[in-house]
Amino acid sequence: MAETASINVYRPVPDDKTVLFVDNLRTWFPIRRSFTEVIRRAPRRYVHAVDGVSFKVEEGDVFGLAGESGCGKTTTGKTILRLVDPTSGVIGYRPRKRLLDEWKEIGYEPPVIDKYGDIDIARVPSKFLKPLRKEMQIIFQDPYGSLNPRATIYKILEEPLIIHRVGVTKDERVDIVARALEEVKLTPPEDFMYRYPHMLSGGQRQRVGIARALILQPRFIVADEPVSMLDVSIRAEILELMMDLKKKLNLTYIFITHDLAVARYITNKLAIMYLGKIVEMGETRRILENPMHPYTKALIEAIPEPDPKNRERIRNVPIKGEVPSAINIPPGCRFHPRCVSYDQHPELQRYCRTVEPSLIEIEKNHWVSCWLYGNPEEIIKMIRK
Ligand SMILES: Nc1ncnc2c1ncn2[C@@H]1O[C@H](COP(=O)(O)OP(=O)(O)OP(=O)(O)O)[C@@H](O)[C@H]1O
Ligand code: SF4
Ligand SMILES: [Mg+2]
Repeated sequence: MAETASINVYRPVPDDKTVLFVDNLRTWFPIRRSFTEVIRRAPRRYVHAVDGVSFKVEEGDVFGLAGESGCGKTTTGKTILRLVDPTSGVIGYRPRKRLLDEWKEIGYEPPVIDKYGDIDIARVPSKFLKPLRKEMQIIFQDPYGSLNPRATIYKILEEPLIIHRVGVTKDERVDIVARALEEVKLTPPEDFMYRYPHMLSGGQRQRVGIARALILQPRFIVADEPVSMLDVSIRAEILELMMDLKKKLNLTYIFITHDLAVARYITNKLAIMYLGKIVEMGETRRILENPMHPYTKALIEAIPEPDPKNRERIRNVPIKGEVPSAINIPPGCRFHPRCVSYDQHPELQRYCRTVEPSLIEIEKNHWVSCWLYGNPEEIIKMIRK
């Protein structure tokens, strides 16, 4: 247990490079009550999908969100885009002039929350969200399920143009669609425009998914496991395409993945999520070279080892039990029922079991929420001040 010189608890403080930040974001889904529960007036229960998440994304970042299935990655991404409504918290976004102009045109005054002119997207009423779709887009995991099988590629890409009134004439729209297809290297575009999704390979379909996300010229993309359903052989191609487009079009990404090998390849910053919360965050290289949270260590140990001589390692992943339900979150550190370090540190167990650790800066820009780091008494005193 090291002494703590000064304790720095994470707060996302926007600066001139920030594009987006979330502060204590929560998205809980109510669970439908049974008839007897209603009669008994049992309290409502919730799935705590996102449960107090804070981070900041800077212009040009590929900010990775990683963690096991069900930890809340997709819900975080969807909440940021307001495809799902948050329960509480702030979603700060720095709007381009184009967005402000469109809101002005329809007589909407957005909720500005700081001196940089950031807007709290969480507080924008649903009926004014449409212009935001031009700024922020999503690339889905499933290139098979996310494209309408009954529409041609042209129709799929034309649809957002019609909804947002981009390209007044049909000729203009054909031109925009052709350029979008060229951008994602589906060339010549005429060869692809009038095909249906089933007439494309998985990689080509995901290129259409990317073209659809980019056709309205957004600046911010949530990419939700965009390569996890693709053949290993074409994953690198799609990731490279995404990086080329990022450079060319000045994009900023949140990149969701459960695969740390993919995170290492594409992200510059990384947040590790566990049961709706970030447990470790910082520069990707640093986290993967020097993981500190026991859960991150377990995830890294679980990366499959290509060398057959080292396959044994996979059996020694330092984690126990199953992922608890996001309905009944364990008290204290939510990872404690599965944590091997908990067993090894009886002197910490009373903290681990009862007090939720905050994200603390352990080394420069490397944040960890675990009682193994710092003096728990000092940290608790400081947090409660
Ligand atoms: N619309 C919903 N209604 C109720 N519960 C939901 C809803 N969407 C997600 N959940 C629950 O919220 C939790 C987080 O789900 P989410 O899809 O965000 O996880 P994930 O990290 O993206 O997982 P995966 O890696 O499998 O995609 C899960 O317990 C899930 O069952
Ligand atoms: S706070 Fe305790 S239980 Fe949680 S990860 Fe750290 S050592 Fe394990
Ligand atoms: Mg998901």
